[in-house]
Amino acid sequence: MKTILTTSPTEAAEHIRRGGIVAFPTETVYGLGANVFDENAVARIFEAKQRPADNPLIAHISSLEQIGQLAVEITESANKFIEVFFPGPLTIVLQKRDEVPLVATAGLDSIGIRMPRFELAKQFLAACGTPVVAPSANLSGRPSPTTWQAVAEDLDGRIDCILQGEITEIGLESTVVDCTGEVPILLRTGSVSLKDLRTVIPETATLNGDIETIRSPGMRHRHYSPTAKVELVDDFPTAINDAAAIGIGAIPDGFGYSIACRSVEEYAHSLFEFFRESDRRGISTIYCQIVPVNGIGAALIDRLRRAAEA
Ligand code: TXA
Ligand code: MG
Repeated sequence: MKTILTTSPTEAAEHIRRGGIVAFPTETVYGLGANVFDENAVARIFEAKQRPADNPLIAHISSLEQIGQLAVEITESANKFIEVFFPGPLTIVLQKRDEVPLVATAGLDSIGIRMPRFELAKQFLAACGTPVVAPSANLSGRPSPTTWQAVAEDLDGRIDCILQGEITEIGLESTVVDCTGEVPILLRTGSVSLKDLRTVIPETATLNGDIETIRSPGMRHRHYSPTAKVELVDDFPTAINDAAAIGIGAIPDGFGYSIACRSVEEYAHSLFEFFRESDRRGISTIYCQIVPVNGIGAALIDRLRRAAEA
């Protein structure tokens, strides 16, 4: 299959309307989209990414009205979060309608819903005329792509089209919160922090260990891992040429590759592309400086820990 590159959201949407699968940029990472109601197209996403069939997808919408096509009911907690955080990097999980095929939700009776705020994503989704399910547009287990080139590196020849945009603004995947029950439950951290959610609903809970893997199946799979070994450090060791380093502030001379970030936001924005570039350069060990766990720092530490475990 030849993968078409385009900067036109309407041309990219045309592929979705014809039953194709299309990578597109959002403010978090690039997604690999299909029409949620087209079971064949949705199945092709799992095939192209080599994604385990038990890992559910997030539906992306361009208007709040589209929630009615996906969810049985918008719960009170969902309503509050939507009011504050939509459009933006927050995914809410609600009971799904019967019309939503089980292949999209990996057999679950719930569906994750997100409304991106990035302009090109909005234009693309509006032109699709339907909610679009999209996981991150990487091969399963690789770091999520933040550039269209990273998408092509993993998926060229496996998908119909790539909508080319800039490097994504945030660089980490959306926050996921389960709003199906009495109390909302944070399932995945992102740039919308637990503190942000609790500003809106103070009772918002978190999960730990075993329960988390049951409620958010995707979290138990390997994630975000470069080929190089990842080590988390407070201070950098003596530099060697086949090691790489990323952190905040100064980095000692002598690493084969390094990025000194000015803020936690810039660190989050740069991390996944830094992992990929380290692999391209044949780096053997990547040293990542630990950051405080407030704001997007919690999400950054979560992704760093997963990468270091792999
Ligand atoms: O920022 C993002 O969320 C990006 C962009 C493309 O929107 N998408 C993304 O998708 O990161 P993915 O498939 O890589 O991660 C989706 C996460 C997984 O951890 C999955 O388990 C969880 O969301 N999830 C999706 N639907 C769910 C559901 N119904 N119940 C619980 N967790 C769900
Ligand atoms: Mg992913």
